[in-house]
Amino acid sequence: MRYLSLDEITEDMVLARPVFGNDGRILLSNGVKLSKTYLERLKQMDYNYLYVYLPDEKQMDFTAPLSDQTTGEAIQSVKDSFIKATKRQHLDLNQVNKVIDYILDEILANPTVLFNIMDLKNHNNYCYLHSVNVCIVSTLIGRNLGLARDKLKELAVGALLHDLGMVCIDPEILAKPGRLTEKEMDNVKEHSKYGFDLLRSMRQLSVLSAHTAYQHHEREDGSGYPKGLTGKDIHLYGKIVAVADSYDAMTSQRVYKKAIWSHEAIEKLKKESPEKYDPEVVEALTGAAAIYPVGSVVMLSTGEQAVVVDISTKKITVQFSSGSRINAFYELETDSPIRIERRLS
Ligand SMILES: [Fe+2]
Repeated sequence: MRYLSLDEITEDMVLARPVFGNDGRILLSNGVKLSKTYLERLKQMDYNYLYVYLPDEKQMDFTAPLSDQTTGEAIQSVKDSFIKATKRQHLDLNQVNKVIDYILDEILANPTVLFNIMDLKNHNNYCYLHSVNVCIVSTLIGRNLGLARDKLKELAVGALLHDLGMVCIDPEILAKPGRLTEKEMDNVKEHSKYGFDLLRSMRQLSVLSAHTAYQHHEREDGSGYPKGLTGKDIHLYGKIVAVADSYDAMTSQRVYKKAIWSHEAIEKLKKESPEKYDPEVVEALTGAAAIYPVGSVVMLSTGEQAVVVDISTKKITVQFSSGSRINAFYELETDSPIRIERRLS
């Protein structure tokens, strides 16, 4: 299985992970042969990356934090929440609570699960899939920091809806392809305050979930917004979502910027801590997100190349793609004689 950009995918490959539409429904299921028509359509729809099997490659599943069904329901729930918020209606909190419970059930049932890159986004569903990714990564970070389930729930709700306030920003500014003027940027920056107001108006929600949305752009040295709070005044949930949000944004391809690899994003976040990000939270991210996600091609210390086929906090399973052991599997654990030297693609 490979994680490839659409330009590298050819007609003889098979889809390995489903493609979700912006309503959470599966547009293309895994196992589908990527015909010319599908590929053209996906290109038109502006998808960037897909998980695929190479021709004649054995199909196998890998461990993911969420089932496809829960991922779809989470996307749907974010979309419904954004539509309701646009109309200034109350969110369907039963739906949000139900989906957060599923997310927590699935993540907590598998204590060694890691987040793989899921940049299967296009411009239409970016916001919804990004929100779901930020929720998954934040929950995994919270798990690693030892938060109890009730706390994880407050965090996960705030993370899923962290950008809800975007519905209050002028859509023309959000759709603008080029650089924003300072005034437009100031307007966009107001989304965290708007998000807080929207979430705070729903009394059944924890005030801490609302504060999570409020603080997700604050930075440790006071250079963030809206308040310019410094580390000691930023709530742990705000610090966690700041890291998860930046991580998913860095590893996502956008019209105006290229995606960077997971290990590069983690290095960047480490470099920017403690100034911008809380080092403990960044450290917890390294046990939450796969440094070499499933589908990456890596160079091993033996000189052989291999593809990462599964990953957990305990081990990385690779399949050799060169050398005499080609196609054989190998489990890399901390004390294994073989190491990953670097990522090749
Ligand atoms: Fe934001």
